[in-house]
Amino acid sequence: MDNNQIEKTVLKNIKKIIVVASGKGGVGKSTVAAGIAMKLASEGYSVGLLDADIYGPSVPLLFNMKGKRPFVVEKDGKSYLVPFISFGIKLMSIGFLVDDSQPIIWRGPKASSGLSQLINDTLWGDLDYLIIDTPPGTGDIHITLLQNFNADGVVFVTTPQAMAMEDVEKAISMYQNETIGIPVLGVVENMSWFSPTIHPEEKYFIFGNGGGAKLAENFNIPLLAQIPVNEKMSASCDLGRMNELMADQQIYDAFGKLVDIIT
Ligand SMILES: Nc1ncnc2c1ncn2[C@@H]1O[C@H](COP(=O)(O)OP(=O)(O)O)[C@@H](O)[C@H]1O
Ligand SMILES: [Mg+2]
Repeated sequence: MDNNQIEKTVLKNIKKIIVVASGKGGVGKSTVAAGIAMKLASEGYSVGLLDADIYGPSVPLLFNMKGKRPFVVEKDGKSYLVPFISFGIKLMSIGFLVDDSQPIIWRGPKASSGLSQLINDTLWGDLDYLIIDTPPGTGDIHITLLQNFNADGVVFVTTPQAMAMEDVEKAISMYQNETIGIPVLGVVENMSWFSPTIHPEEKYFIFGNGGGAKLAENFNIPLLAQIPVNEKMSASCDLGRMNELMADQQIYDAFGKLVDIIT
């Protein structure tokens, strides 16, 4: 990868860009990205959440906005997308621009220009934080992000199983690449344990114990948070009720700790 030919876009209105990534799908990347955005917004920061997962956009579902299409406005002879606002967060997603029933097949230059448009052509206004939810793996979207934009850091999400960790190791190595890398802020271990509601003091490590800590140690990066399996989580996410999710004390505390470290 040659980084010298491309000049990185500087986004003057956005103070910090934080990328949320993982090697694998289904580990809770979108949930974590949305949770970070919710917590930051609740602390009074102006926050944008960009869903750049071209294989499975989640923001429309998580914020109960499936099927919505953003307004387009003209400014200085250019067209811009107007982000939706939910819980004070400015939202843009590839899912707002394509038909739900159509798979998005973007590769190489198309993925690169699509992502650049989503970032550059959305009217974000002034933001303290832009959180970017990415597709699993290390593909075109990640390469474009690293080569073309000045992201301030990346948070990796993993589950405790070894399989998820091997994939995440590859992705971390790419983000730590000497030429195009950005600071790796740390690891979030999701689905760390399960505690029954009637015995909240008991922890069942259903997907193994200590995986996130081991990964963090191997790469010499912090373990930012451990988020337990939460019965309400998939229900509230599927119904687009991010606020209900954040009302859970365990979840709120986990995101509180995470956001304290990365801000
Ligand atoms: N800690 C958790 N407890 C219970 N369900 C979870 C948890 N984290 C994520 N989920 C659920 O798992 C599924 C996958 O999460 P998602 O954030 O979409 O993953 P990814 O973006 O990595 O593909 C979703 O249905 C989500 O609600
Ligand atoms: Mg996702």
